[in-house]
Amino acid sequence: MKKIGVLGSGQVGEVLANGFLKHGHAVMRGSREPSKLDAWKKGAGERASIGTFAEAASFGEVIVLAVKGSAAESAVEQAKNENLKGKAVIDATNPIADAPPEQGVLKYFTGPNDSLMERVQKKAPEAHFVKAFSSVGSANFVNPDFGGTRPTMFICGDDAGAKKEVTEILAVFGWDAEDMGPVQAARAIEPLCMLWCIPGFTRNSWTHAFKLLKR
Ligand SMILES: NC(=O)c1ccc[n+]([C@@H]2O[C@H](COP(=O)([O-])OP(=O)(O)OC[C@H]3O[C@@H](n4cnc5c(N)ncnc54)[C@H](OP(=O)(O)O)[C@@H]3O)[C@@H](O)[C@H]2O)c1
Repeated sequence: MKKIGVLGSGQVGEVLANGFLKHGHAVMRGSREPSKLDAWKKGAGERASIGTFAEAASFGEVIVLAVKGSAAESAVEQAKNENLKGKAVIDATNPIADAPPEQGVLKYFTGPNDSLMERVQKKAPEAHFVKAFSSVGSANFVNPDFGGTRPTMFICGDDAGAKKEVTEILAVFGWDAEDMGPVQAARAIEPLCMLWCIPGFTRNSWTHAFKLLKR
């Protein structure tokens, strides 16, 4: 059993928190207003707890960052580098702008030679950020059923040990991790969310995932 700190009171935080509980871990979810998670805590059992972003970051041996993209740098500042130091931080965030999608294509506040993960890594330089879960809808996060085919989760980050730890978590959650390299590879992984969302926005189809074919 590991202790997992989940920063995020939204749907992504909830699905991943429940996934970690399902697989036998202890989870503290963090929010600026922890009381908004009271109902979740009541229903989630003995291994579930709630706190501030800093408390959840301090509790976790592994951290999940699952906040609104435009608030990610602020949430990491609130969680504090000292609480994240040396830990794998699964970064599920996307830099989605406030403007609506155009013809089903999301707008980002980052450009092609930048990424949100590079920005949050700078806010907590001693944390080991690993991009994961950002390019698939939350309904598919935990042991999705694709008729026996394991989908691909593209990951990246600067710390090999953290990527190994996240790869093992992904395997238990039903995913094959594909390591795309250091933090800068988030510039390529984050836009996969734009691609993933197009069938959703244009034809209400949300039940797909990516698979990397190799020969
Ligand atoms: N929805 C999906 O299926 C999906 C899939 C993959 C990735 N993602 C990404 O996952 C992330 C979370 O998505 P979500 O839909 O669960 O939730 P969300 O509504 O995007 O984010 C909710 C979280 O953001 C925090 N937040 C908002 N404004 C803040 C601020 N000014 N300062 C600090 N924290 C702030 C909230 O904190 P409080 O708790 O304090 O209110 C809350 O914990 C997003 O980056 C999204 O792009 C979503």
